[in-house]
Amino acid sequence: MTTVLLTGATGYIGSHTWIALKQAGYDVVGVDNFANSSPQVLDRLALLLGEAPVFEEADVNDGAAMARAISAHGAQAVVHFAAHKAVGESAEKPLEYFRNNLGGLVSAAQAMADQDVFSLVFSSSATVYGQPETLPIAETAALSATNPYGLTKLMGEQLLRELERCDPRWKIAYLRYFNPVGAHPSGLIGEDPRGIPNNLMPYVAQVAVGKRPFLQVYGNDYGTPDGTGVRDYIHVLDLAAGHVAAVRHLLERKQSLTVNLGTGQGYSVLDVIRAFERASGRPVPYKTVARRPGDVAACYADATLARELLGWQAERGLDAMCEDAWRWQSRNPQGYAPALGAAG
Ligand code: NAD
Ligand code: WQD
Repeated sequence: MTTVLLTGATGYIGSHTWIALKQAGYDVVGVDNFANSSPQVLDRLALLLGEAPVFEEADVNDGAAMARAISAHGAQAVVHFAAHKAVGESAEKPLEYFRNNLGGLVSAAQAMADQDVFSLVFSSSATVYGQPETLPIAETAALSATNPYGLTKLMGEQLLRELERCDPRWKIAYLRYFNPVGAHPSGLIGEDPRGIPNNLMPYVAQVAVGKRPFLQVYGNDYGTPDGTGVRDYIHVLDLAAGHVAAVRHLLERKQSLTVNLGTGQGYSVLDVIRAFERASGRPVPYKTVARRPGDVAACYADATLARELLGWQAERGLDAMCEDAWRWQSRNPQGYAPALGAAG
């Protein structure tokens, strides 16, 4: 049996990938320090998996704890999700982002090398394309960072590419996610942002459920068909399947790769609002306000390379993304708290 260690395992993408890897026949050990997730995710995973998830509470910056987790469970590959991810916060606390996202990556890689494990999947992001010059965006497009968070993804890629160059035992999958949304169709796990959501889909979901009065649409004067920002939303289950394909690729073909994980299809903010209203049967009131600083007009993937190299492509459309996000939101209006089955 092949064991895969996930850092950031109880987070949004990690928890969905955990299930996908188990369903594909891998053993999984999760590591997280709950910096941005709830221990209740483990209870929900137990329900979905039909067994207790194997989990170590640890900070990826704790190299000794990471090395122990890798060796105790015989992990043969690591998927490194653990990072801080809020763009606005990263400009307020750049050093904290550099420490956690880059320090954590170096610490995890060191622990892997100490245990002779060299297969790594790195959570990169479409943010590494900065202000894209051409659409759709291919992996060969120019790279740049427009905020400290984006810089940690760009530099994370650069550090790992240099590591591979110096030591070819490393095989690394650089997965550039576009905009992950949606939730597990069971309604048991999903995205649970702390405080006011930064991202569109969780904000829309909280408006539909009545937690917030209206959405602010950041600008309707972009050079897009309806003037609002266009993004490549990808269902988190499709994203999870992309990780399974990448792990398999690393372990079986023993080759590194850099691929976009997106659908290749762009949708505007108004498209998302309408699709969410259809999925939920609830109105999503909105007001148009000024553009959000740093936003690009449009960003969507050329998704052909992942299909060619991994045999993977996204299968779920915007309606399924909204239906699953709504099921999660409406069944868990307060996110993971209070505990499942608890009174009140
Ligand atoms: P998330 O915040 O839900 O999950 C990240 C997890 O990492 C959390 O559970 C958090 O507690 C954990 N973590 C953070 N620092 C840690 C540390 N030092 N030690 C141990 N655990 C730690 O975020 P997500 O949306 O699941 O994102 C996962 C990865 O994908 C991140 O690297 C993120 O930058 C990247 N990514 C996310 C998106 C997105 O829009 N969600 C897009 C592109 C890339
Ligand atoms: C989508 C669209 C907004 C909120 C961010 C990060 C990126 C990546 C994914 C990790 C845009 C509009 C949003 C709102 C709105 N993360 N919007 N009202 O900005 O594409 O990407 O998350 O790597 O790095 O930058 O996603 O969901 O914030 O915005 O009108 O309240 O929705 O202007 O057009 P974004 P988003």
